[in-house]
Amino acid sequence: MLRKMAVSSVCSSQLEQLRAIDDYVKQLFRKDPTGHDYYHMKRVSRLAKKIAEKEGADLFICEAGALLHDVGDRKLFDSPELAKKHMFQFLRSIHFSEERILKLYEAIKDTSFSKGQVPSSLEGKVIQDADRIDAIGAIGIARTFAFGGAKGQLIYDEENPEKTSIQHFYDKLLLLKDQLNTEFAKVIAEERHLFLEQFLKRFHSEMGP
Ligand code: ADP
Ligand code: NI
Repeated sequence: MLRKMAVSSVCSSQLEQLRAIDDYVKQLFRKDPTGHDYYHMKRVSRLAKKIAEKEGADLFICEAGALLHDVGDRKLFDSPELAKKHMFQFLRSIHFSEERILKLYEAIKDTSFSKGQVPSSLEGKVIQDADRIDAIGAIGIARTFAFGGAKGQLIYDEENPEKTSIQHFYDKLLLLKDQLNTEFAKVIAEERHLFLEQFLKRFHSEMGP
């Protein structure tokens, strides 16, 4: 019932497609230990839907695209091109038209922070904002240390701070709130950004002189 209400604005065949995409993404990411697990995709999808409602974006493309936004990410896939090819085949198998596939791909191809791109479509901007919001706040902190641990990176190192997880806060996480595309995402980000600052303050005070 709850699930039905959450996607009440999309028609029933789209609901079935969303369920199939959810299953597909679960299989792909459920064992990821780097903070890019299935629950990251679910959270980004939920956030994207919330933002899309406020911004007047296509809800279905935002929800579906957010679920799929990390498929083919170079950090996560040995063969990114193959992963994307497989995703397109999968979308065809659940009766996505070529036009829809194009619209969805347009919305997710520039999500990544490291690419430094602003997506051209409103749906792309919404999904990028949702992904960035999931990189800050308590969840963002947890993901950062999960990523660092999975990659064998140190938490903190005074002598060689460049490649530590704490450094990642200064290199990326603290910058995100000023790089959001939509007004509603900026509102959500405010509290989460404050929490990052509080965490760092506390971390350094517990670290001591
Ligand atoms: P995007 O999906 O925008 O390309 P990334 O996949 O690089 O961004 O980062 C997603 C999350 O993974 C970050 O928010 C952070 O939690 C974690 N992460 C990425 N790179 C690092 C790093 N060098 N150190 C610690 N965490 C990282
Ligand atoms: Ni992501």
